[in-house]
Amino acid sequence: MTRILFYLQDYSHDIWREAIKRVDPSVEFRSFPDWGSPDDGPAYAFVWEPEPGLLARYTNIKAIFSLGAGIDHLTRDPDLPKNVPIIRMGDDGLKEGMAEFVAMSVLMHHRGMPQLMAKQRNRDWGRYFASAAKDVRVGILGYGALGQVSAAALKPFGYDLAAWSRTQKPAEEGITLYHGAENLNEFLARTDILVGLLPSTKETAGLLDFDRLSLLPEGASVINAGRGSLIVLDDLMALLNSGYLRGATLDVFPEEPLPKDHALWGLDNVLITPHIAAITRPDTAAEYVLRNIEKLERDETAENVLDLTRGY
Ligand code: NAP
Ligand code: GLV
Repeated sequence: MTRILFYLQDYSHDIWREAIKRVDPSVEFRSFPDWGSPDDGPAYAFVWEPEPGLLARYTNIKAIFSLGAGIDHLTRDPDLPKNVPIIRMGDDGLKEGMAEFVAMSVLMHHRGMPQLMAKQRNRDWGRYFASAAKDVRVGILGYGALGQVSAAALKPFGYDLAAWSRTQKPAEEGITLYHGAENLNEFLARTDILVGLLPSTKETAGLLDFDRLSLLPEGASVINAGRGSLIVLDDLMALLNSGYLRGATLDVFPEEPLPKDHALWGLDNVLITPHIAAITRPDTAAEYVLRNIEKLERDETAENVLDLTRGY
């Protein structure tokens, strides 16, 4: 019998219980705070933003499933168990959601929607003529699971696509691939619409500061749906206010929710979304978690196991 210890603040657990039970009715689904005792026997944790120290107390946990693709909500815990696999979410629902969000955001900046929306508020008929998609250079920062599905969603529009990752990827038709810190500047200099899909790590924190953002061509736009730590917000705002950068769509922020008095809220050329670019869907996530529990039970390696040394 599989036992799951589930933790998610502020949302109904019933939807999750039902989704898990639909895939395997025999699972024992324990919803926090009713996790029982560590002596009750082996269990799998399936959690989002668990309170620090909690996972360490449950010495019966055999593996930890993150309810999201990001794991910064786990690594903030100084007592996070290091002796069990930590598995990042990688279900199809999350990938579809991110592909939709990135396609929508790139199209909006390409077609000048932030500018047109500002004009509408002033009853201004001023028109915006967009370049052909083939002349718009889109660059995806982070070419992992979500970067790759986002690129696939953009390809049919004909954008001039590129992506940047830490390690080299095999050549692929329809996209120019860059990798490594030494090639970041060249990648930025060729990018009209930048899409951030990087995890939060020591290396990515503050990566897009004033100097790096200034490498983008004048008139470029910035989309960030990875983690808020990537961008130095004051530097981004300075470049948006000066008109050097044309616009931004931001889904993630260094502090969430973005404080009500933050100056970003007031910028006409910025679209703000409340960390909803890709939300883990119970149906596809339940299949993903139970499929991976089966792998672990067969002593196979699970998908998307966190590598603590690289931080993602
Ligand atoms: P992933 O499969 O692990 O991909 C991460 C990508 O980032 C990889 O291509 C990796 O390079 C690259 N990378 C990491 N560190 C780098 C560095 N220092 N320099 C260059 N490239 C680096 O992760 P994913 O599933 O695509 O998810 C990406 C992130 O999206 C998550 O970590 C999470 O923070 C965020 N996210 C946000 C939302 C939302 O709603 N806003 C939803 C889901 C996820 P390699 O390929 O060489 O390893
Ligand atoms: C959401 O931000 C996630 O990490 O899945």
